[in-house]
Amino acid sequence: MADDDKRLAAEAALDEVRDGMLVGLGTGSTVAFLIAALGERVRAGLRIEAVATSIASARAAEGQGIIVRDFAGVSLVDLTIDGADEVDARLYAIKGAGGAMLREKVVAAASDRMVVIADGTKRVDAIGAAKLPVEVLPFARSFVTARLEALGAAAVAVREGGTDNGNLILDARFGRIDDPRALAAAIDAVPGALGHGLFLDEVDAAYVADAGVVTRMTR
Ligand code: A5P
Repeated sequence: MADDDKRLAAEAALDEVRDGMLVGLGTGSTVAFLIAALGERVRAGLRIEAVATSIASARAAEGQGIIVRDFAGVSLVDLTIDGADEVDARLYAIKGAGGAMLREKVVAAASDRMVVIADGTKRVDAIGAAKLPVEVLPFARSFVTARLEALGAAAVAVREGGTDNGNLILDARFGRIDDPRALAAAIDAVPGALGHGLFLDEVDAAYVADAGVVTRMTR
C-alpha cells in the first residue's frame, strides 16, 4: 500500500539524521510520516532543530514538539528530507503537487544534503508525465501561461488557491521532458515565473519504497 511505503521510505531516511543537525522539512503526505517519526525520536532524546518548507509542515512539526526555526534567519541547513511527484534514475525530480516547490527549492539549495522520500509509484524512467507546477506572480498569470504554452506545454491550468507566498500556481502538462535542463532554464528566464518544480541538481539521494522494500538511489 502506498501509505505503508511512504512511511517506510520516511523512516529509512531518518537514519541520516544526527544529533545537532538543522533539518529541512519538506511538504506533503510522505513528509507527514517523516515528521511523525522524527517527533518520536525527538521525544526520545534526539537533539535537532528544523526549518520548514511550508506553514503546514511547520505546524505539524511544532505539534510533534520539534523546534522549528524561521528560515528567513537561516542560510545553511544540514540535511533536507522532502517528497517528490516523480524521480528518475538520474535523480531528476518533479515536485510541487503540494504547492510548496519555491520554498522547497530555496531550502534544498541551502542544504548540505537533500534526500527525497517516496513510494514506488513516483519512480519513473523519465520525468514529465506529472504536471509541472510553476509559481507565478498573479499579475503575470496570462503572460506566463502563454510562455509555457510556447515552450510546449499541452495544457496549463491555474490551480485553485494560492501559495504560502501569496502567489498563484500554474500546472503545466508537458509530457515526457527530453531536455529537462533546457526547459528549466527557459522557465527560469520568464519574468513573473518565480519558481518551478523541476529539481535537477538538488537531490543527492532518494529512498523509494516499493511493496515494503526500500531502495536507496544515489547519483
Ligand atoms: C510539495 O509541494 C511537493 O513538492 C511534495 O513534496 C510532493 O508533491 C510529494 O508529495 P506527497 O508526498 O504528498 O506525494
